[in-house]
Amino acid sequence: MTRRTTALSAAVALAAALALTGCSSEDGSSAGSSGGASNSSSNGKPELKVSGAFMPQPVMDMAGGFLTITNDSATADKLTSVTSPISDDVQIHETKDQKMRQVKSFDIPANGELKLERGGNHIMFMGLKQKPKQGDKVAVELHFEKSDPIKVELPVEAPNHNPKQH
Ligand code: CU
Repeated sequence: MTRRTTALSAAVALAAALALTGCSSEDGSSAGSSGGASNSSSNGKPELKVSGAFMPQPVMDMAGGFLTITNDSATADKLTSVTSPISDDVQIHETKDQKMRQVKSFDIPANGELKLERGGNHIMFMGLKQKPKQGDKVAVELHFEKSDPIKVELPVEAPNHNPKQH
């Protein structure tokens, strides 16, 4: 008897849940997005902003580059390559188990950010043509899958500079 009542009320709850689901999918009439985000004003172009860029003064003939790319749009993008006058071979690296590995691209999620930081994902300038010094600025151009390229100047900081450390 008790058991039967429980089963019955579970069924009622399930029916109610289904009804709710049906209702909400009905007024979100546009197809596709499974994220449940309600930003409808997307014209399909990612809106990217770069902040916190820097390069630690290189100690060898290679250098790292760090920055944050913020995406204020409902369209995801990818960082696909980086170019700079100081190196003909600028790569993008991820760090796994304290080892660096070259990757083809980094995801820049919709309404999210891509963080390139020490100990993690980073830009890697191989075979430097010149060694920038603290106080210099290094020009780079970021290339994306969808967005137009963005030019950034990386201020050169002390070799051990890390904005995450307090
Ligand atoms: Cu690297």
